Amino acid sequence: MNDQFFILGIETSCDDTGASVLNEKGKIISNVLSQQNVFHAKYGGIVPEIAGRKHLELLPYVVDCALKEANLNLKDISLLTVTHGPGLVSSLLVGVDFTKALSFALRIPFVGVNHLEGHLLSPLIENRGLDFPYLGVIISGGHTEFVIVYKKGEYEKVGGTLDDACGEAIDKFGKLIGIDYPAGAKIEELSKSGKSDTFKFPIPKIKKGEFYVSFSGIKTYVSNLIKGFSEKDLDLIKADLAASFQEALFNQIILVVEKIIKDYNIDKIAIGGGVAANERLRLMLKEKFSDKAEVFSPSKILCTDNAGMIGYAGLLKFKRTGGDDLSLPVNSHLSIGS
Ligand code: KG4
Ligand code: ZN
Repeated sequence: MNDQFFILGIETSCDDTGASVLNEKGKIISNVLSQQNVFHAKYGGIVPEIAGRKHLELLPYVVDCALKEANLNLKDISLLTVTHGPGLVSSLLVGVDFTKALSFALRIPFVGVNHLEGHLLSPLIENRGLDFPYLGVIISGGHTEFVIVYKKGEYEKVGGTLDDACGEAIDKFGKLIGIDYPAGAKIEELSKSGKSDTFKFPIPKIKKGEFYVSFSGIKTYVSNLIKGFSEKDLDLIKADLAASFQEALFNQIILVVEKIIKDYNIDKIAIGGGVAANERLRLMLKEKFSDKAEVFSPSKILCTDNAGMIGYAGLLKFKRTGGDDLSLPVNSHLSIGS
């Protein structure tokens, strides 16, 4: 029996089943993830019913792996943390009900965590000198949000997307050029052999004082462009097209970030979410803001969905507000900072 304070984090908001163990300082000891890509790829996107069923099968095993890797067992855990929104209801329910059952049976507290808060605070986990206030840029498959983090627990959403999330636009583009879901990392790889200035994409006009991106124009444009190529020609220009498309999305994000840090007088930018794993985006941000702001990017494992960030955000929430009770609902539309 261990008398230290350990946290078990659980993440099942979408299609990845995750479990983590952290110590009382928020240091991640284990962070295990089982991805379901192979089960969803042939449908071209996530099938909620399949995701929920797979979580049910995988979660006990993934939790076991996280505990084993940390050299602990359930009796050593003092706090349970679980994503309770936003996400797919059938996926969220598996993690939340599993956690509630553990909490009840083991008589240990649990907290429900906002998945977006997990992404927003993930750049703090590795202690790379990031302090407050900072502009958190969440860029994932389900979200594109610009949030000012004044301190832990105090957030102001200042902008976002008017239509698709950045990762969603990338995944849809992937489908058009024959790349399986999730397409982000494969498009990043393909782009390395392409020229990003080959194709020019429309840039939407943003009104003064508004901090929004919109990817629908770029999406329609690229879809029409692709229709004009034969399959053979498309193969020849795929890398250039991918590099140009990726660059156009990232340029929009950079444009909005630039406006926000100027208007809000912020000198720290921290990115999170699956798209934040992209090396090209990281470089573009660093180059663009080298003299205006410091850019913080978490390790790649902490960018894409993972339970480490849920354990971390959950521990901080528990310190602020204490545990939740068994009536805590899942909330597929949970928002942040607004
Ligand atoms: O944060 P995440 O794992 O799940 C959500 O909360 O949505 O993000 C998944 C998204 C997918 O759209 C995926 O294509 C994208 O992140 N992604 C990337 C990269 N790795 C994952 N996009 C661009 N470059 C990457 N290296
Ligand atoms: Zn996410």
